[in-house]
Amino acid sequence: MNTQPVILDTDPGVDDALAIMLALGSPELDVIGICTVSGNVPLSTGTRNAQGLLQLLERTDIPVFAGADLPLKRNPVFATEVHGESGMGQAVLPEPSQKIKGDAVDFLVQTLSNQPGEITIIAVGPLTNLALAEQRQPGTLQKAKQVIVMGGAIAETGNSTPVAEFNFYADPHAAHTVIHSGATLLIVPLDATRQVVLSETDIENKIAPLKTVASQFVVDAVQNVFALYRQLGREPIVYLHDPLAVGAAIAPELLCSETLYIDIETSGDLTIGQVVTDRRGLPSPRCLGKPVNCAMHVNAEAFLSLFLKRVLTPAS
Ligand code: BDR
Ligand code: CA
Repeated sequence: MNTQPVILDTDPGVDDALAIMLALGSPELDVIGICTVSGNVPLSTGTRNAQGLLQLLERTDIPVFAGADLPLKRNPVFATEVHGESGMGQAVLPEPSQKIKGDAVDFLVQTLSNQPGEITIIAVGPLTNLALAEQRQPGTLQKAKQVIVMGGAIAETGNSTPVAEFNFYADPHAAHTVIHSGATLLIVPLDATRQVVLSETDIENKIAPLKTVASQFVVDAVQNVFALYRQLGREPIVYLHDPLAVGAAIAPELLCSETLYIDIETSGDLTIGQVVTDRRGLPSPRCLGKPVNCAMHVNAEAFLSLFLKRVLTPAS
C-alpha cells in the first residue's frame, strides 16, 4: 500500500486528539509531523496535549512543531467550555518526554518546498499557521498535494456564533488567506461533520468495555462535552469534526463534495468568520469568492465503523 505523507495542523482539543489517533491508526497515512496552533486552548496547552497524547500512544517518534500563539489579527478565542480547561476533558495525559522539534511555520514552508506536490496537510484548528506559511513564502500552500481543512458552516448554523464555525471564527483572516491561496483545497464543514456523531451509548457499549489505554482515554476525554450537553438539557453526544477531516484523506469515497464559490467574512459584529456562499448561479467570473471543493455529505455509518476500528485497534 502507498502511504500518503501528511502533516496534521491542530489545536488539541478532544476531537483533535481523536483525529490524531485516527491518523496514527491508519496505514494509508504517514504522519510526518504534528503542528500546533492556538485555538481550543492556548498554544502551550495544546502543544503539551499533542506531546502527551503521543507519549500515551507510544508514538514519540512523531515530531511536534509549535506554531502561532495568536490569531493573525483578532484577539484569541478559546473553546475550553467544550474541551475543558486542559483541552482533554477529564483525561490526564502523561508528562511528555519529547521536546518540541521546531517552529510549525518553518516546518510547513520547508517541507512543502522540499517535497512539492507530495504532502497532504490536514488542518483541524484555526488556519493561522497555514496563513503565516503562505505569507512568509507566497505559493507555499499550492505546493501541497492537497489541503484538507475542517472548518466553516455552509448551509448549517455555526457553533461559535449563529453563522460561524469555531476554526474560521477564531482566525477568519487566516481562513481568508487559505481560501484565496490557490491551493488544492477540500473543506470539511459542519454540514458534513455534524453527520458523524458518537453517542453516550456508543461510548458505554462499544468503547468503555475494551479497557485499553486508548479506549480509557476516549471515555475520559469526552466527559466534559457530555456534561455540557447535559447542562443544556440535550442528549450527550460528541461530534467527530476533526476525525472526519482525517477520514477524507484515508477514505475519500465516503464523502460527497461539491464545488462552491465561497468567501470568508473577516469583519462584522454579527458575521465575522461566516462562510458566504454564492449560490446565485452566475457565470463564474462574476461569482464572489473562490471555487472550493466542500464536503457536504458523508456515509456516516461507514465512517463511524472505520473510526472505531482504527482508533481502538491501531495498525501496528
Ligand atoms: C472545530 O472547533 C473545535 O472546537 C474542534 O476541535 C473542531 O476543530 C469544530 O467547529
Ligand atoms: Ca480542532
